Amino acid sequence: MPITIQIQNFKGGVGKTTTSINLAASLARKGNKVLVVDLDHQGNTTKGLGYEVNEKTPTIFHVLKDIDFDYLNAVATVRVNFDLIPSDSRTAGLEDILHSMPRREEMLKIKLKDAKEWDFIILDCPPAHGLIHLNALLFAEHIIFPVTPEVWSYDGLEGVLGSIKRMQKYFNYRPNIIGALPTIVDERYSLTSEVKQLLEQTFGNEKLLPSIRTDAKLKNSQKQGKTIFEFAPRSRAAADYERLAEEVLKRVGLKKKRKVNNNGDKKKQR
Ligand SMILES: Nc1ncnc2c1ncn2[C@@H]1O[C@H](COP(=O)(O)OP(=O)(O)O)[C@@H](O)[C@H]1O
Ligand SMILES: [Mg+2]
Repeated sequence: MPITIQIQNFKGGVGKTTTSINLAASLARKGNKVLVVDLDHQGNTTKGLGYEVNEKTPTIFHVLKDIDFDYLNAVATVRVNFDLIPSDSRTAGLEDILHSMPRREEMLKIKLKDAKEWDFIILDCPPAHGLIHLNALLFAEHIIFPVTPEVWSYDGLEGVLGSIKRMQKYFNYRPNIIGALPTIVDERYSLTSEVKQLLEQTFGNEKLLPSIRTDAKLKNSQKQGKTIFEFAPRSRAAADYERLAEEVLKRVGLKKKRKVNNNGDKKKQR
């Protein structure tokens, strides 16, 4: 069975997309077969991987809106060991469509129930309450919460934690929190002690993941549709995401897989 991980925080700009792309890329480079599902109508993961969507491209919108649509038709191979279910602005219309469907919170779980060929399925979540958020919660067993050093990004985390508590009441739902991931961390200031304290109080010290430091190369890599390992393999961001992948493998109880030769610039639609 795949290890399913959702990258969640109700705040935008905290590094959810950057983490989805580069954690997935690092896991894929280590020989794991990875599927990333872009659940955000901004489609930043899709664009950040350089994958082009037009009006004919099947996306997560088609997967979730139509019970008879085979999700495999929306899976694109974007790198070695690395597949993507893309998203674009059409995904914004999903909330309304899902609303009138039976089992509206479980659509993703129902549609991807046979998705067993991957070692990891990673969900890049939109920064919003709503049915897509609930679908992600009910699908993925594990959660990573990116947080930036500002207190306001912790507020977005509190929103998600409240949502998880409510889901525990309605569904038999017990997610595993892999950890809170400090991102865009300026080494000169590190995490503010206030946020560090809040995180430790909420999750315990052992749930803090190794930080991702500020590195402008991440922004530039996304603009060019490249992962950090393709754009700047010797950057500190590449080192940080590599370290994160190793920590995630440890925390979900998987050993490192064989490293594969990944030239990374091949894209093909299956
Ligand atoms: N460690 C980092 N250092 C510098 N910029 C970063 C870092 N992580 C993310 N960014 C940039 O911050 C912006 C927001 O990140 P993003 O991953 O899109 O956040 P979210 O998906 O939570 O909205 C993007 O422009 C991204 O390139
Ligand atoms: Mg995003």
